[in-house]
Amino acid sequence: MAMKVYGPAASTNVACVLVCLEEVGAEYEVVPVDMTTGKHKSPAHVACNPFGQVPAFQDGDLILFESRAISKYILRKGGSDLLRDSNLSESAMVDVWLEVESGHFTGAMSPIIFECFVVPNFLRGQTNNEIVQENLVKLKASLEVYEARLSKSKYLAGDFVSLADISHFPAAYYLLSGSHASVLDAYPHAKGWIAEVMNRPSVKKVSELMKMASA
Ligand SMILES: *[C@@H]1O[C@H](CO)[C@@H](O)[C@H](O)[C@H]1NC(C)=O
Repeated sequence: MAMKVYGPAASTNVACVLVCLEEVGAEYEVVPVDMTTGKHKSPAHVACNPFGQVPAFQDGDLILFESRAISKYILRKGGSDLLRDSNLSESAMVDVWLEVESGHFTGAMSPIIFECFVVPNFLRGQTNNEIVQENLVKLKASLEVYEARLSKSKYLAGDFVSLADISHFPAAYYLLSGSHASVLDAYPHAKGWIAEVMNRPSVKKVSELMKMASA
C-alpha cells in the first residue's frame, strides 16, 4: 500500500517529506488538506496530527507527524544512506545540522515565507515588512555560519550529502523565488551549495509540485 502524506506540497514541512519519498523511490499519495478552509483543524486531520498542522503521514497502521521524524522514517525504511546511520559520528553531525536547519535557516525563513507568500496570496493581506526585515537579519547571521562551514566542508555534515542538506530545500525554494534571493550573493559557498541541492532530481520534482500547489 502506498504511503500517504496529508497536506499541500507548497508547505515547507510537507515538501521535505515528499523529497525523502522521491529520494528512496517510494510509492506515495499526496492527500490534499485545504488549509484555506481550515481542514487541517478538522477532527479527521487532528486524529493524525494532534497539533492540527501539516503534514500528517500514514504507512499502513503507522501514523506519524513532525516532518523531520517522518523524513527519517522514510529514509530508514527505504534503506537510504542520507542519515549516515552506520557511522555514529557522521549521523550525529547530520542531526546537528538538521537542528540548525530547523532553528536557524527555516526558522528565519518561515516568517518571511508567511509574510511574503501566504499573506498576499492566500490571506489577501499586506506583508508586514518589519517582520521580514527582522528575519532577514537573522537569516544573514545564520548564513555567516553556513559560509564558514561550507568553505571548509563540501556539505554541512561532512564531505557527503545528507538529509541535513536536502532539508533546506523547501525554505530555499521560497528564498530563491522571492524578492530577497540576492541576500545569498554575499555568501558564495552557501549560494553554490544551495544551487547544488536545488539541482537534485528529487528536489526538482518536488519543486514542480510546490509550484503547481501554490499557483
Ligand atoms: C565515521 O566517519 C568519520 C568521519 O567521516 C570517519 O573518520 C570514521 O573513520 C568513520 N568510522 C567508521 C567506523 O567508519
